[in-house]
Amino acid sequence: MSLERIRNDLGAVVSADRAHVWHHLSQHKQYETTDPRVFVEGKGLRLWDAAGREYLDAVSGGVWTVNVGYGRTSIADAVRDQLVKLNYFAGAAGNIPAAVFAQKLVGKMPGMSRVYYSNSGSEANEKAYKMVRQIAARHHGGRKWKILYRERDYHGTTLGTLATSGQPERAMQYGPFPDGFVMVPHCLEYRRQWDVENYGTRAADAIEEVILREGPDSVGAIILEPVTAGGGVITPPDGYWPRVQEICRKHDILLILDEVVCGLGRTGAWFGYQQYGIQPDIVTMAKGVASGYAAISCTVTTERVFEMFKDAPEDGLSYFRDISTYGGCTAGPVAALENMRIIEDEGLLENTTRMGERVLANLRALMEKHAVIGDVRGKGLFCGAELVADRATREPLDEKRVQAVVADCAANGVLIGATNRSLPGLNNTLCLSPGLIATADDIDTITNAIDSALTRLEG
Ligand SMILES: Cc1ncc(COP(=O)(O)O)c(C=O)c1O
Repeated sequence: MSLERIRNDLGAVVSADRAHVWHHLSQHKQYETTDPRVFVEGKGLRLWDAAGREYLDAVSGGVWTVNVGYGRTSIADAVRDQLVKLNYFAGAAGNIPAAVFAQKLVGKMPGMSRVYYSNSGSEANEKAYKMVRQIAARHHGGRKWKILYRERDYHGTTLGTLATSGQPERAMQYGPFPDGFVMVPHCLEYRRQWDVENYGTRAADAIEEVILREGPDSVGAIILEPVTAGGGVITPPDGYWPRVQEICRKHDILLILDEVVCGLGRTGAWFGYQQYGIQPDIVTMAKGVASGYAAISCTVTTERVFEMFKDAPEDGLSYFRDISTYGGCTAGPVAALENMRIIEDEGLLENTTRMGERVLANLRALMEKHAVIGDVRGKGLFCGAELVADRATREPLDEKRVQAVVADCAANGVLIGATNRSLPGLNNTLCLSPGLIATADDIDTITNAIDSALTRLEG
C-alpha cells in the first residue's frame, strides 16, 4: 500500500503497527487487547493520534526533544533544499551546513572549539568515552583510563553508555559491561545522604572520595548531567558545581557534561552548564539540537582536548580513529542551524525562563493542595514533582500509582512523563518538559490536568 493511500486508512496503519512495529520501552502484551497510540500530525505543542484525539504535549515528543515545537515548515524547507543539493558525504570530508553550524554552535559555548558529529546522544557519549581512553593510552601511559559517572544519571542505551547508567533498571539483564566505569553518589538533597549544612559541597566532596579511593592517576574523566533528567529532574544543590570543577582541576580529570537533555535552551540558557558557571572539557548533545527534525548529535571539545589527537602524525594511530556513517548526513546540521535561528529570533530562551518559573509556581501551589507532592524541582521548562505516599517519611509513591497519574492526564488530553523502570523503588517523579514555545495558557492547562489527576488519585 502506498504511503498516501495508507494515510487515508488509519485503521490499516494501526493494524500494520500492531503486527510489525516493535515499540521502544514497551511491553507488547498490552497490544493484544488495546491499540498502540499512533501519532499522525503535530502543530506547535499539539499532537493528533490516529483515532483523531488531540493532545497537548508537555514532554516535547515524549523524551525532551521537540524544543521548537511541531510543524516547523522552515526547518523542513531548509532540509529539503539541502538534500536536493547534497545529502551526504562521509564526515572525513566537510560540507557547508556542518561547517556553518559548528561555528555557530561554538559561538554559544565560550571556551569550546571543536564539533564531532554523530547521530544520537548515546553515540555522542561513546565518542567522549573513546576520546578519554585514547588520551589515557597516548598521554598518560595507559593510566587515567577510568571514567566516573553519577548515581541516577543516564547517558544512553549502548553497552558502553549503559556501563555508566546511574539507573540500575535501565542496565539490568544487559550485562556484562565493559570495565573502568565507576559510580559516584547522586546530589539530590530531597533524598539526602549526609546530614550537613552545606549539602552541595558535601555531595561534590563525595566525588573526590571516590577519586581518592580509586587513585587519581587512574581516573581520566567524569560524566555528569548538569541537571539530571530521567533520573528524576535533579537540580544541583548550591555550591555543588563550583566544587566539582575544583575537584576535576585538582586531579586533572576531564569534565564531560551530558547536555543531551539540557542543551539548546531547555533550562533557559543555551546550555545547562552555563546556569552554573562551569567550564567543561567535553560537552555532548543530541535531542534538542535539531528538535527531532533530523538525527544529529555533537561531541564538542576544547582546543586542548582536540590538540591531543594531533601529536606524532607519523604514527598512524594518534588521530581519533572513529567514524559515524550518518554523522556525514547534511540534514542534521542544516536542521540544527534553522532550529538555532528559531530559538534566537523567537526569544525562546527568555520564554523558557519565564514559563519555567510559571510551571514551578503552579506546581508549588499544587503542593499546598496535594500531600502526595513531596518535592518540586526544575530549571526552565524542565521540571519535576516527586510523589510520595507519606510526606513526613518521604516514602515514594508506588510506580503504578505514578503511572496512573500519567495515564489520567493522557486520557484528558495532556501528555506528561514520569521516571519509569529506572530506579528501583524510586520511579516516582512526574516530568514536565514542554516545547520552549509554551504559553502561559499551555502551562496552566498542563498543571490543571495534574491537579485533576491528583484529586482523582487521592479521592
Ligand atoms: C541525559 C541523556 N543522555 C543521553 C541520552 C541518550 O540519547 P539517545 O537516546 O539519543 O541515544 C539520553 C536519552 O534519553 C539522555 O536523557
